[in-house]
Amino acid sequence: MDLYGYGEIRTPIFEDTAVFARGIGEETDIVGKEMYSFTDKGGASITLRPEMTAPVIRAYIQHGMGEQGLLDKLWYMGPMFRQERPQAGRYRQFHQFGFECIGQSNPDCDAEIIAMAAEVYRRLDITCTLKVNSVGDSLCRPVYRQVLREYLAGVAEQLSPDSLRRMNTNPMRVLDSKDPADRSATTAAPVMSDFLCDACREHFNAVLSKLRMLDIDFCVDPTLVRGLDYYTRTAFEFVSTDLGSQDALGGGGRYDGLVEQFGGKSTPAVGFASGMERVLIVMEKNGYAFPEMSPDVYIIALDAESRSWAFKTAIMLRTAGLRVELDYAGRSMKAQLREANRMKAVRVVIVGEKEMAEEKAIVKRMEDGMQTEVSFEELHSALSRQP
Ligand code: HAM
Repeated sequence: MDLYGYGEIRTPIFEDTAVFARGIGEETDIVGKEMYSFTDKGGASITLRPEMTAPVIRAYIQHGMGEQGLLDKLWYMGPMFRQERPQAGRYRQFHQFGFECIGQSNPDCDAEIIAMAAEVYRRLDITCTLKVNSVGDSLCRPVYRQVLREYLAGVAEQLSPDSLRRMNTNPMRVLDSKDPADRSATTAAPVMSDFLCDACREHFNAVLSKLRMLDIDFCVDPTLVRGLDYYTRTAFEFVSTDLGSQDALGGGGRYDGLVEQFGGKSTPAVGFASGMERVLIVMEKNGYAFPEMSPDVYIIALDAESRSWAFKTAIMLRTAGLRVELDYAGRSMKAQLREANRMKAVRVVIVGEKEMAEEKAIVKRMEDGMQTEVSFEELHSALSRQP
């Protein structure tokens, strides 16, 4: 995020319910079924945030951020809440990281957001597929929706109850349904790409050509709709076959109407968010070796006096930059050694009555058991050297 010039934004865990209801769309699953909304003691309806784009835009307007420059580039990371049926990769409290680029309509910004997301996944050695689509804008989408609604009315008896309800309120979501009956009923449905206005088509082609220029693999998926209503033009999703039915690692798109919808000046924007648990699931499946938090040093102390020395020395060595562990329970030497082994300590320092008297500690390298005697005075420099 730093490399791309993004600054961190932190917003509250909850917002006025209206921020999400208005921002994400009343007809979406998130607002309709999944929000954790409560009435506070003052009678206000508040909601645990199900996502961050709406809060970021709320903050952007409230703090007049748009007046400070042409472009605001913000990133975030934190817990989100959605009341969904929990299953692998789907939780009621989960974490997202994401970024929002506010203030520019240039298709380069769409490509840059996608490139940033792809780079995060690349650095984590995650192989995934990028799907891209254009969902049009307020000019061309209504025309398409109407055509789609008419098509869906023709196949209504084959649709699931959910899709039947959405047919009128949010027909594009029907195309996104996972229900096999919906899928087969909509194979021949008209697609948005055939209805894009010239400006949207030009924008979409420019995004795709920038992705090609950056050697980012993608496939155009004309049925990709996304579950939030604020998108205009570009919509995209990264999916992974390592995730099972909840296959979306992350997604995003352009939302040129949202700032205005919140009462701000008309301001284009584009953004992305990734599920962090899903990233971890894929990394674990790929056998990623998570870095171990093993201590550099475990101090084993054998009596009261050496325990006191160990306590002070541990703090001193930590101040000097070493990761140090010690026993707080007054256990036997054997138990402390077992603990050091379990923690995969690189070295142990052993002190007892004799060592205290001679002001020397035994330093043992755990890898090969090599032992040396080191004076207390030289302990820090000896431990700071390569094991
Ligand atoms: P979203 O597709 O709703 O988009 O969520 C983004 C990602 O969050 C999903 O791809 C998924 O990895 C993860 N996620 C969503 N729900 C859950 C869950 N219940 N459990 C675990 N992970 C989950 C957004 O939230 C938009 N705000 C993205 C965006 C930013 N668009 C523009 N800017």
